[in-house]
Amino acid sequence: MTTVGEPAADTGLVLGATRWSVSGRRTLVSNSARLEADVREGLRQNPPTLPARWFYDERGSKLFDEITRLPEYYPTRRETEILLNHARHVVTLTEATTLVELGSGTSAKTRLLLDAFSHHGPLTFVPIDISVEVLTAAAQRIADGYPTVTVAALVADLDDPLGRLPGAAGGRLVAFLGGTIGNYNAAGRAAFLTRLRDSLDAGDHFLLGADLKKDPARLVAAYDDSAGVTAEFNRNLIEVLRRELDAEGLTPVDFEHIARWNDELGQIEMWLRSVRDVHACFRAINLEWDLPKGAEMLTEISTKFELPSLHAELARHGFDLVHAWNDAAGDFSLSLLVAT
Ligand SMILES: C[S@@+](CC[C@H](N)C(=O)[O-])C[C@H]1O[C@@H](n2cnc3c(N)ncnc32)[C@H](O)[C@@H]1O
Repeated sequence: MTTVGEPAADTGLVLGATRWSVSGRRTLVSNSARLEADVREGLRQNPPTLPARWFYDERGSKLFDEITRLPEYYPTRRETEILLNHARHVVTLTEATTLVELGSGTSAKTRLLLDAFSHHGPLTFVPIDISVEVLTAAAQRIADGYPTVTVAALVADLDDPLGRLPGAAGGRLVAFLGGTIGNYNAAGRAAFLTRLRDSLDAGDHFLLGADLKKDPARLVAAYDDSAGVTAEFNRNLIEVLRRELDAEGLTPVDFEHIARWNDELGQIEMWLRSVRDVHACFRAINLEWDLPKGAEMLTEISTKFELPSLHAELARHGFDLVHAWNDAAGDFSLSLLVAT
């Protein structure tokens, strides 16, 4: 990862005007070695499994943005409600001078934090995302809307070592919103929290949005909307594989979208089920893949949490709870933690 104000010479990716910049080493599509490794490793698992990061090409990011406005998809509205009510408390409790946002996407909700910060001193905003298109557009919009904020966006993969995050020790606030932490399983979460803690100093803050356990029927509906947008988002993964790996014999229409609640693991799962025998050849990496009709591939998990166990897990990784807020319906939570 590059650091603010120091776009690495090897990036080939430094965009921006005087007061905002985007820098980074890896973009989704240029990271072909990781895609190859994920596909080789993931498709031979039983069941075949791919990491969620490959959803977010330009089209996938737009589809996700559409999902956030769907009637069934409550998390965005609930987290917005919490931020509307409590962003000022977050800012007062942290007194941060650098706001880092992980998996920032459009940073739409983050504006509520930026609004609250406008009553404080100078702020540097560092959105970090793997999707260069969505990140660049968001950085420009934020810079236009917040003339006193310095915007230094980074294209990076959160699954790489994060390095020391930008900002002064004790003055960082790292936001990870949208319930994206739920995309990690327990082992992935432990690794992520270890990487994050290693990238911070004691006294830095972590603001975590987490979706809570609830009626499975509502959860399934949120991931299988009636307009079929989530299904398109899920199938777009096949298009990413087809395009990036020059695949023959693979098309999105050969798969149907499934959303399922896994009670044992406390997670929503998105699957793609083949509607015919698939024989695909990934020409770019010289790999053949067969998937019989009716077989399923796991494409995303979204863990749903109970707060006491989530806070205990965070404490074990060096993050103590400062305060937690819920929306009025008790669907979603925002926890402010301090690195110890
Ligand atoms: C579920 S969306 C959430 C977006 C936004 N934070 C929100 O709350 O609406 C996940 C975001 O994380 C990004 N992302 C997914 N995997 C990533 C990875 N491995 N590294 C960096 N960003 C990633 C995606 O591009 C996307 O913008």
